[in-house]
Amino acid sequence: MKNFAGKIAFITGGASGAGLGQAKLFSKEGMRVAIGDIRQDALDKAVEEIRAYSGAKAEDVLAIRVDLMDREQYIAAADKIEEVFGGPPHLFIQTAGVNSFGPAEASTFDDYDWVVGVNFNAVVNGLVIFVPRMIRAYSGKTDCHVAATSSMGAFSGFATDAPYAAAKAAVNSLFYSYYEALKPYGIGATVLCPANINSNIGEAEKYRPEHLRNTGYNVTEETIAFLKSIHATGMDPIELAEWLKNGIVNEQVLVVPYENSEEMLRREFQKIIDFSSPEGMKRIAEAEEAQRKAMEEMMKNMPKPADGAPVMKDVGFAKARKDLDWVDPSKKMN
Ligand code: NAI
Repeated sequence: MKNFAGKIAFITGGASGAGLGQAKLFSKEGMRVAIGDIRQDALDKAVEEIRAYSGAKAEDVLAIRVDLMDREQYIAAADKIEEVFGGPPHLFIQTAGVNSFGPAEASTFDDYDWVVGVNFNAVVNGLVIFVPRMIRAYSGKTDCHVAATSSMGAFSGFATDAPYAAAKAAVNSLFYSYYEALKPYGIGATVLCPANINSNIGEAEKYRPEHLRNTGYNVTEETIAFLKSIHATGMDPIELAEWLKNGIVNEQVLVVPYENSEEMLRREFQKIIDFSSPEGMKRIAEAEEAQRKAMEEMMKNMPKPADGAPVMKDVGFAKARKDLDWVDPSKKMN
């Protein structure tokens, strides 16, 4: 997709972080932008921010409160966009996401249902709802594009982020499939894989749905504050949106938003290759040992944190709930 001005964009998770950055940028490109998000207060604030950033008229920014895991609500959101903007989006970006950290073996059904639900099932919902509408409205007439914000986590497994890594890997796979499938219709597909974004995802636990709150992880005000401090050092959402825009213009299937992206990907794929042979597993064991030693050394030489600054081991970040008796005690909250 090369031309944005005058067209319609729909961005999920557009009330915050990466999605808000995308909404601002594509609004500035002259698109009519709809944002869908579960938090009404954040939506209200985001509309003001988008308009202040892009100078868009009030009628060109549409906020829709929607729980993307709820198919009826999602279909109603799609109908609303057509009703207000006169057609489905030309550019459909699925960026809403949540995260939660804890040992894989402590994960509950609720942890999977929430994290996979928002990060993967909702993306499936979006594709099933919007792709037919986009094909009917635009195929052979004008260029359009579907995109999603996945993660570098899509390329590897994580002992303390299993549901998330699995969901993101599945999103990537879905986009490789849709890239092939939508090419004949003139619809592009791009999946964006950042590592760390300056966003509010650290607070996601605060609005985890009531019926999915039985987590196996240690989640406290302190772990949330710690995660927020990590994300505060992440990439600026506008800069990230620029990477995505360039990837869309260039019809890239994958955008890894770093100058050394090829090297990063090679490292991840080398690990997969190594998983598949005895020699490779030896290399992995050596690398793990080297990493453990480097980590020990780093911890020894760490400057003392400033008073009040959160420290990972003290806050029990990414640990299991204390009462899970099958979990190795070293992996539980202290
Ligand atoms: P964020 O928390 O600032 O924004 C995510 C938005 O999604 C929030 O406004 C939230 O209300 C919305 N949302 C969550 N559940 C929803 C639901 N059921 N229905 C509708 N909206 C819902 O977080 P951020 O970081 O901007 O996240 C955007 C995407 O970037 C996510 O897919 C995340 O997995 C991905 N990502 C984030 C990274 C980071 O370091 N923050 C790194 C790599 C990927």
